[in-house]
Amino acid sequence: QKGGYDTFMEKEIHEQPYVIKETLRGRLGVSDVVLPELDLAKIDWKMIERVYFIACGTAYNASMYAQDLFRTWMPKMPSFALAASEFRYGDYYVDENTICIFVSQSGETADTLAALNLAKEQRAHTISVVNVLDSSLARKSEVTLYTCAGPEIAVASTKAYTTQLVLLVCLVLGLVQHWKETIPQIQEIVKDLDRMPEIIETILKEDSTLQEYAQLLKDKHDAYFIGRRLDYYSVAEGALKLKEISYVHADAYMAGELKHGPIALIEPGTVVVALATQEEVAAKTISNIEETMARGATVILITFQNQDTSKFDRVIRIPSIHPLLTAIPAAVLLQMFAYHAACIKGCDVDKPRNLAKSVTVE
Ligand code: M6R
Repeated sequence: QKGGYDTFMEKEIHEQPYVIKETLRGRLGVSDVVLPELDLAKIDWKMIERVYFIACGTAYNASMYAQDLFRTWMPKMPSFALAASEFRYGDYYVDENTICIFVSQSGETADTLAALNLAKEQRAHTISVVNVLDSSLARKSEVTLYTCAGPEIAVASTKAYTTQLVLLVCLVLGLVQHWKETIPQIQEIVKDLDRMPEIIETILKEDSTLQEYAQLLKDKHDAYFIGRRLDYYSVAEGALKLKEISYVHADAYMAGELKHGPIALIEPGTVVVALATQEEVAAKTISNIEETMARGATVILITFQNQDTSKFDRVIRIPSIHPLLTAIPAAVLLQMFAYHAACIKGCDVDKPRNLAKSVTVE
């Protein structure tokens, strides 16, 4: 059942090249994406005034990333990423000119379902990105797009997350296509999405390095994750993964926010996992990382190919890829880091304490 792996989580991490390929099957053109499902919604695109991305936990981290991409390509269309549990009680404006996009592995999360019901009551268009076939969310949404991650047994989401990311990139591109907005470097983006399974194969070879770096957490109770722009959503997911399976207290911060408070937590030996995959803002992030090193932090840096890393002892480089897509390989690296940290601490990685695979209470 575990296909030769010690745990379901390890197996699911290693299945990612295949399930990403399956999720993208038939979706990629040369300079466009293929999403016939969107036509089922009968959306009058000219009338749409706002777009919400709504989800919980890992799926919420995927939603924040998707909303950022959407905002990048459709800056004039108001868009928001919201935790489903907040959306319900937040009096957000929703009407028939609103698109609500729900993201969920199980399709049964109570808060996300309640948010969907509310959106439907207000006559919004509803699109779901779901993994489990015929789940409640899938059945109740106007349009459903399926991630093809297959059954995810480990409580900590891995392959469901990366398949959400690739499908959300396609969905956002598909929405933008409907508004006929130009997407800079679309051909490169589509080409790199197509290459994603082989990129993830390469990333999986970093497993032993991450196992070595995870030893840093052996006797630690805290870790901090930092990143700027799109890297922030990746570190939010990396920190969630680490805390849920290893019980290490892990927080994610936007790199520029460190000096506004969290840097007070850094002391000699504090583990800081830093992501600087966005070339445009890398210099700023590197300077924030150096501020933590000046206070004694032990840093693990994940960055792009050409970044100067001469000041860093522990570095992993992501293969060359469009900067808007680095979140996908980065996710896999952070999953392996969390996995090894949990194993080193002797935790039950597949069934972490206090957590259920599907949260069906609000
Ligand atoms: O099934 P869903 O994607 O709706 O679940 C949402 C969260 O409960 C889920 O992502 C949770 O955060 C995972 N344990 C994360 O690994």
